[in-house]
Amino acid sequence: MIYYFSGTGNSKYVAQRLAEALDDSAVSVSDNPTREIPDGEPVGFVSPTYFWGLPWLLADFVSELHLSGNHYCYVALTCGGSTGDASGMLEKLLGRKLDARFSVKMPDTWTPMFDVSDNEANNALLDAAEPVIDEMIEKIRARECGNFDHLRGMGKVATALVYPFYKRQSTSKFKASDACTGCGLCEKQCPVQAISIEDGKPVWVKEHCLFCLSCLHRCPHFAISYGTKTHKHGQFYNPRVK
Ligand SMILES: Cc1cc2nc3c(=O)[nH]c(=O)nc-3n(C[C@H](O)[C@H](O)[C@H](O)COP(=O)(O)O)c2cc1C
Repeated sequence: MIYYFSGTGNSKYVAQRLAEALDDSAVSVSDNPTREIPDGEPVGFVSPTYFWGLPWLLADFVSELHLSGNHYCYVALTCGGSTGDASGMLEKLLGRKLDARFSVKMPDTWTPMFDVSDNEANNALLDAAEPVIDEMIEKIRARECGNFDHLRGMGKVATALVYPFYKRQSTSKFKASDACTGCGLCEKQCPVQAISIEDGKPVWVKEHCLFCLSCLHRCPHFAISYGTKTHKHGQFYNPRVK
């Protein structure tokens, strides 16, 4: 079983690649999948890194998983550059050691800071990710154990300083411009139902969403912004997702 969360397709793509190559099933934690896993079956987690930790939806899911059987457990973190202590956070929530930890660098969709407006640069990153995913597949197939996450950077102490910024994000910073047609795509695609369309415009009905920015990146009119910089930094959804 491969559990994944993905806001903008990178982790979904990795989960799909793993599932296809390893003849496994990839299921999104936003679809409330089964937590029943036959003894002996490998369990994978694929997730974006958020503020050097985990998106809260995946963290909540994992904390209720109670894995008791004998499973080869691994994590594949997608990130824009550094995974911090996201895999350590996962181990803590799981209450057991991960057999293998992997990471892969992808376009960084946190566009309040990073720029995804250059499609060539995005594609170069996606091309460079392919052999990293291939290597991950071979290691998982061989049930190799170890920490193969070479992007973990500053680790636990720095993560303790960075992760609180995730909790400080607020949906009050989302705005829909006049380009919004009220099509409702953002509402439909929001993984945690944080958006509702009122008077033909999106309204963020929760103060704390996942901040996956799926609404912003997938808006067909690029009408959604978060803070002042996202508009300059472009939109991205992984074009290789099936
Ligand atoms: C809220 C948020 C926080 C992020 N924090 C980090 C981070 O701490 N380190 C990093 O390298 N990338 C960070 N990123 C980039 C994502 O981890 C990266 O783009 C990931 O591949 C997105 O996965 P997805 O397309 O499956 O949602 C962040 C992105 C978002 C939306």
